[in-house]
Amino acid sequence: MRAGEGSLESRWRDVHGNVRILLLTHGFNSLTQRLYVELAEAGHELSVEYDIDAAVTREAVALYRPDLVLAPYLRRAIPADVWSTLPCLIVHPGPPGDRGPAALDRAILAGEPAWGVTLLQAEAELDAGPVWAAATFPMRAATKSSLYRHEVTEAAVRAVFAALARYPDWCAGRWRPERVPLQPLRPAVRPEERAIDWARDDTATVLRKAASADGSPGVVDSMLGRACRLFDLRPYPAGGPPGALLGRAGEALVRATVDGAVRIGHLRVEEAQSFKLPATLALPEAIELPELPDAVADIRYEEAAGVGHLYFEFYNGAMGTAACARLTAAYRQVLARPTRVIVLHGGPDFFSNGLDLNRIEAAASPADESWRNIEAMDDLCEAILRTDDRLTVAALAGNAGAGGAFLALAADLIWARSGVVLNPHYLNMGNLYGSEFWTYTLPRRLGETAARALMRSRLPLGTAAALRLGFIDAHFGNDVGSFRAETHRRATELAHAADYPARLAEKRARRAADEAAKPLAAYRAGELTEMRRNFYGFDVSYHVARQRFVHKTPHAWTPRHLARHRETDWLVPKVDSSS
Ligand code: COA
Repeated sequence: MRAGEGSLESRWRDVHGNVRILLLTHGFNSLTQRLYVELAEAGHELSVEYDIDAAVTREAVALYRPDLVLAPYLRRAIPADVWSTLPCLIVHPGPPGDRGPAALDRAILAGEPAWGVTLLQAEAELDAGPVWAAATFPMRAATKSSLYRHEVTEAAVRAVFAALARYPDWCAGRWRPERVPLQPLRPAVRPEERAIDWARDDTATVLRKAASADGSPGVVDSMLGRACRLFDLRPYPAGGPPGALLGRAGEALVRATVDGAVRIGHLRVEEAQSFKLPATLALPEAIELPELPDAVADIRYEEAAGVGHLYFEFYNGAMGTAACARLTAAYRQVLARPTRVIVLHGGPDFFSNGLDLNRIEAAASPADESWRNIEAMDDLCEAILRTDDRLTVAALAGNAGAGGAFLALAADLIWARSGVVLNPHYLNMGNLYGSEFWTYTLPRRLGETAARALMRSRLPLGTAAALRLGFIDAHFGNDVGSFRAETHRRATELAHAADYPARLAEKRARRAADEAAKPLAAYRAGELTEMRRNFYGFDVSYHVARQRFVHKTPHAWTPRHLARHRETDWLVPKVDSSS
């Protein structure tokens, strides 16, 4: 029995403790994916519908008959005839009473010391419904997108589960969500509210303004006389006349503030591009500027107690041809060090998202650049796979998708922060076949059947499920700091464990046997034959999917692997999660 049928209590009994939830969302973004994997793990029934049109939402509700609608990421109101017939819970990235579409932007601009997430019930007035649950967190000096991927996401998970714990009492009429005093509704941030005043703003102010708009929509500014949006700003140790462009550092531009300078990593030139690119690529005329040392390294190495720690932090986890080549060179240098274990850390927000699709899109020949990029990525994976004189660990503090997830599989062990979301498949990018030696590493870890099922699933994988499946070896730590501290401890332990020589010998023997059975070169060649077809063949699905992804083309429908209610066979008997 579902929404609109029978008493509320019978509805609850009917779902045997599990709730049928329709995730109504603007897109299947990181927060939505995290909630999806956590709710699935807890045994709830899930389907997803993109917020495309009120009629589509109504249809989804009619088909799926959910107990409740959960809206993790919406850009407009839910139709009244939907929220008036069943509870629709909105994830609002602000504390109770806060209202408006730019909650997190405004919290960063105001320098709030703490912030929160509220789960409120949709009503006619925007963000004014009663509160089902809320969670708070201390603010961190970070970009909006980083706060969203970490603190907001963790708080949202806590709030959603707190709300679900109240659902039985709500059904039984024993509990009702609470109305809280409301703040005035705060509108979206106007560009001029966070425009940088280069003649007056100090570095901290510039960084705060930029952080409030990163990764979207970016701070509106102008560089070398061209209107653009700025992303990926960091402090830079230099100084000059306030506002002056001091030079270029790597692919970034350096601009003076009143008390120092900032490094501007990425730009979108308004009249030239609809997507962001590394600054000097977006603004080719910047090549005339003097070259400065690149003081903010995206690749960093540390060594302690026989363990080499290689950190690589590429914007949005995108690894272009040059980034892959630099990382491979760094890895080879690290191999020259007398260590017993190498830990590949990635960055705090992303481990890796594979090929840099924005650069590929901007290239004169996207097919050629895709090819160069995958070759460079494969070189990196191969260097890791061929390391037979020490153990390697991929330590995922942040999410990993597509080729980035398979890069991790090149290591001997994979550890992940609890809560990381993996997307270990390629099909969502226009049926890309994929490379990174996945045809070798994935069946080796999971077995043929599970490997095939995972590649076809197209769904995100949470750390609990990834561990069960054998995709990862451990998950721990709820935040980047505790994950990295524990990673250091475990890596040191691994390097000095009594069974280290035996493990290394076993690894070497297995690799040699595998090589004899089928050389790595054959796996690579086989995958690249398929990739060549993806890049240069008659079927242009990859190019179309990449364009849509990079240009952020709005969705016209929800993919079938998410919209289970649109499958004819979705009404399968429910599995009792306790058995
Ligand atoms: N190249 C360039 N940019 C990428 C990227 C890539 N491979 N992967 C992600 N990004 C960018 C997104 O465009 C977005 O940009 P924004 O800062 O302008 O918003 C940002 O990184 C965050 O990505 P988003 O999709 O919002 O993150 P998510 O956590 O919601 O989703 C993925 C994660 C991995 C599912 C999704 O980013 C994805 O499908 N990426 C493409 C992976 C891929 O196909 N790589 C090529 C094949 S190896």
